[in-house]
Amino acid sequence: MLLAARLASSFALIFTLSLIASGAPANSRTVVHESRNHVPRGWNAIRRADPGLILPFRIGLAQPNIENIEAYLLDVSHPSSPNYGKHWAPGRIAETFRPSRESIDTVRAWLAEAGGLDAARVNLSAGGGWLQADLTVEEAERLLETEYHVYQFEGDEERTHVACHEKYHLPEDVAKHVEIVTPTLHFDVKPKSKPVQLEKRDAPSSGSAAAHAVGQPGFGASFPKTSGTIQPVVDPALAYCDEQIVPDCLRVLYSFDYTPVAPERNSIAIVEYTPEAYVATDLDMFFANYSPAQIGERPVLNSIDGGFVQTNQTGFDYNGESNLDLQYAMTLVGRTQPVQLYQAGDDVEGASFNNLLDALDGSYCYFEGGDNPEYDSIYPDPYGGYEGPESCGTVTPAYVMSTSYSYNEADLTPAYEERQCAEYAKLGLMGVTVLYSSGDYGVAGNDGVCLYPNGTQADGAPDFNPSFPGTCPYITSVGATQVNPNSTVYEPESACEQVIYSGGGFSNVFPMPSYQKTAVEYYLTNYPPPYAPTLYNSSGTSRGFPDIAANGANYVVAIDGEFWLVYGTSCSSPVSAAIFSGINDARLAVGKGPIGFINPTIYTPAFMAAFNDITTGSNQGCDTEGFYAQPGWDPVTGVGTPNFSKLVELWLDLP
Ligand SMILES: *[C@@H]1O[C@H](CO)[C@@H](O)[C@H](O)[C@H]1NC(C)=O
Ligand SMILES: *[C@@H]1O[C@H](CO)[C@@H](O)[C@H](O)[C@H]1NC(C)=O
Ligand SMILES: *[C@@H]1O[C@H](CO)[C@@H](O)[C@H](O)[C@H]1NC(C)=O
Ligand SMILES: *[C@@H]1O[C@H](CO)[C@@H](O)[C@H](O)[C@H]1NC(C)=O
Ligand SMILES: *[C@@H]1O[C@H](CO)[C@@H](O)[C@H](O)[C@H]1NC(C)=O
Ligand SMILES: *[C@@H]1O[C@H](CO)[C@@H](O)[C@H](O)[C@H]1NC(C)=O
Repeated sequence: MLLAARLASSFALIFTLSLIASGAPANSRTVVHESRNHVPRGWNAIRRADPGLILPFRIGLAQPNIENIEAYLLDVSHPSSPNYGKHWAPGRIAETFRPSRESIDTVRAWLAEAGGLDAARVNLSAGGGWLQADLTVEEAERLLETEYHVYQFEGDEERTHVACHEKYHLPEDVAKHVEIVTPTLHFDVKPKSKPVQLEKRDAPSSGSAAAHAVGQPGFGASFPKTSGTIQPVVDPALAYCDEQIVPDCLRVLYSFDYTPVAPERNSIAIVEYTPEAYVATDLDMFFANYSPAQIGERPVLNSIDGGFVQTNQTGFDYNGESNLDLQYAMTLVGRTQPVQLYQAGDDVEGASFNNLLDALDGSYCYFEGGDNPEYDSIYPDPYGGYEGPESCGTVTPAYVMSTSYSYNEADLTPAYEERQCAEYAKLGLMGVTVLYSSGDYGVAGNDGVCLYPNGTQADGAPDFNPSFPGTCPYITSVGATQVNPNSTVYEPESACEQVIYSGGGFSNVFPMPSYQKTAVEYYLTNYPPPYAPTLYNSSGTSRGFPDIAANGANYVVAIDGEFWLVYGTSCSSPVSAAIFSGINDARLAVGKGPIGFINPTIYTPAFMAAFNDITTGSNQGCDTEGFYAQPGWDPVTGVGTPNFSKLVELWLDLP
């Protein structure tokens, strides 16, 4: 039996190869390649797609060695590895994961035989990662044994998206050469031109009723929250940090009083998605109060796919995030350290995380051009947006990058998330520290929505709803803490329970990375969550998040000429980025490399002890109290908040 199967499979292989050579149709059983049993919240299928519609069909080819990426990353990132800090050059990364000739030939042969595509219609991307062809819906439906439907967002005729219904298939012998096919099941759509007002849900914020989602990745992006404008208190004794966080509060909380010595060698970047934009006069208003020497200083703009600092639309929803991120990151790293601004997307197409990743790593890029403007961005943009070429490998990644935007895991498919997550691992291999805010709704997803057991997201659903990329094991996820009411910065913080709750929990997609196994198992063993095992991924083998935390309550931020009180893990991520950038500076100054992917390091006992362990508070959501902060790692505040002066000493001791 076994022998027969072996013979049959080697026969099948030879047979397939000879078919490719002779150009006869490959004849193999088809298998479901990806499936989903729900569409993201708000979207409904309204009709079958027109069979003649042209799709920008792209096949993400299998990347050799991708199964080893965690091992490669640990090899350069684990403090006990002999190769610690020996980061890879981008060329080595591109070569290691470049799809094989066999994959390219197999997929091309399938397109030719099963799809009847003339070879001239099929192109390979410059980075070698994608095969691309413009196909009609009819051709794609036949190739993938699927149906394409037009979906509409909440009845809005201008927000439609074409996607496959439920699943698509590939021949078994082709499937192993393919990671993903787009456009198929995915809803990583970039709504055009028309501002979208997300209705206010039960978030306890009062100032920002309507969040605005044009151009930001996803349609449930996480935004900072506000309780309104305030009169800042000036108190050198820092007695008001429980009511108003200003940079000096953070310096004391995290023992971060540092003047860079190697700023010309160091780099830090803040990522923003247009139309979110900083306001220059607001930066100066903030600097005037908290860092007068920086008046007039601006971030260094790195435009990605037409990204620019728009000034037409103003208000908390357009300026809150960028002003917050830049005012705190720039003030904390100080006058001498330039802060890069990765501004992604024009004001017509917007951008998604893929645009950012394309710009940072040319080997990840889609084919340069040829996109269908109806359903995806094309550059130059025919709708009046960005007129230049797509940004592909145009930005040298900074050593530390902070992003305060996120999806819910349930918004996308696992294969899609795995491909993006692997890309963060590649940035880690290059020596980049990638920070993402963990979300502001505790164990619930963006806007407080939770999951039904069938994976559908809805208000009032029971199950916890983790964020993405928060659950990607190759980024550092940052949760939020608070100075307790009537406490000072000299007393321990709690998990944030004012206005927002720290995003945290366990992934439904990503397995537990080895670096956090001991810490997470300690938590699950000693503080078993008091919930039915179906409420969250209680397997004990899934990725827990966040990794760390930093203050996320009561930030004083200058926005459109006034000071506002702002809340969110959106605060925590750029502040943590500034602190890690200081550690990079200290290492670069003595001729060492950047700290790169920090997770394998920070979960070691010595480094965990250099974080302030947060042991009070919880992250409520989905009609529960969520998880509780406990001694050691917890799915609310991770390993805790950083103590810079301890961490910098430990990191200086590493090679
Ligand atoms: C998923 O479950 C919810 C709650 O039971 C139900 O309302 C919804 O229709 C289901 N969705 C699908 C696609 O089965
Ligand atoms: C493939 O490349 C050729 C030559 O560069 C070009 O003419 C053609 O439009 C491309 N096809 C697609 C689908 O991008
Ligand atoms: C800003 O608004 C003005 C007036 O409405 C318009 O002419 C201009 O094109 C807009 N600029 C951008 C970049 O959107
Ligand atoms: C903080 O102190 C004020 C007055 O000193 C008091 O009214 C308030 O209840 C206290 N808040 C907490 C949470 O203890
Ligand atoms: C829990 O996470 C694991 C990944 O470790 C995954 O394989 C499994 O399907 C998840 N379970 C549920 C119910 O999502
Ligand atoms: C941080 O570590 C330093 C050096 O060990 C210590 O003096 C300081 O009290 C710590 N700060 C906090 C907030 O725990």
